[in-house]
Amino acid sequence: MPISSTRELLRAAQRGGYAVPAFNVIGVEHAEAIVRGAEAAQAPVILQLSENAVKYHFGALEPIGHACAAIAAAASIPVALHLDHATTTDLCARAVASGFSSVMLDVSDLPYAANIERTAALVAWAHPHGVSVEAGLGVVGGKDGAVSSPDGMTDPGQARAYVAETGADALAVAVGTTHGMRERTARLDLGLVDRLRTAIELPLVLHGSSGVPDADLAAAAARGIVKINLATQLNIVFTAAIRRHLAADLDVVDPRRYLADARDAVRDLVADRLSLLGAVGKAGVG
Ligand code: G3H
Ligand code: ZN
Repeated sequence: MPISSTRELLRAAQRGGYAVPAFNVIGVEHAEAIVRGAEAAQAPVILQLSENAVKYHFGALEPIGHACAAIAAAASIPVALHLDHATTTDLCARAVASGFSSVMLDVSDLPYAANIERTAALVAWAHPHGVSVEAGLGVVGGKDGAVSSPDGMTDPGQARAYVAETGADALAVAVGTTHGMRERTARLDLGLVDRLRTAIELPLVLHGSSGVPDADLAAAAARGIVKINLATQLNIVFTAAIRRHLAADLDVVDPRRYLADARDAVRDLVADRLSLLGAVGKAGVG
């Protein structure tokens, strides 16, 4: 089916009271595994490519972006394509030219006025191209391993003014997560989630979700965070499956042997996460 609109997947999730996970793609195996997991769950899903993943691919978005687009187009469930944590409008434009449905401009480290100016300019460019924009306010998911502090949390009143001034379609909020955590020990401020949900009608986005305990992730989805970004959880099971295979089969040389195990492990985790977030069976929801 055609690549889905991120905006429409998130609006459907808002109406239906569930969340759509956005899983980070590193290589083709990740994209295949994510789509297979979502097909098993009959759920919508978002494939997202980060600026860091583009850097890993020698700075070329197009080869891996086009592969994601082809995998999405061949899926039997709705799949949207999202560019995550982009710091330049040039990269956003390349993603749009490659068929992406949405982009995130990560300028949350800029002073407030400059953040608004850059984000509003991107929105003005993206909307005529049929692409939606995720913006961020606060220390979204923490940066470079830094633990989110109360100072970096998103203020509901400021967030309300920010979305009005930028025209963004979704808002990434800082509510206690940190990117790249391997243990699920982050403490979400669910009261702040409630206040943000009351203040803002737009879809809310959680970054750095890998470190959040399952009960809190489910609670965040139930309380109205509709896009849940997950990367590290996938990479943990991907790498663990390869380690297991290599330890058990010292003669292996064909990468397909161990990458197939890694792909299966990611597929199974994706299906499990979709279940946790209430998205199972929502593939046909418009
Ligand atoms: O930018 C990445 C996403 O927010 C996921 O973060 O690796 O902590 O799950 P994570
Ligand atoms: Zn993130």
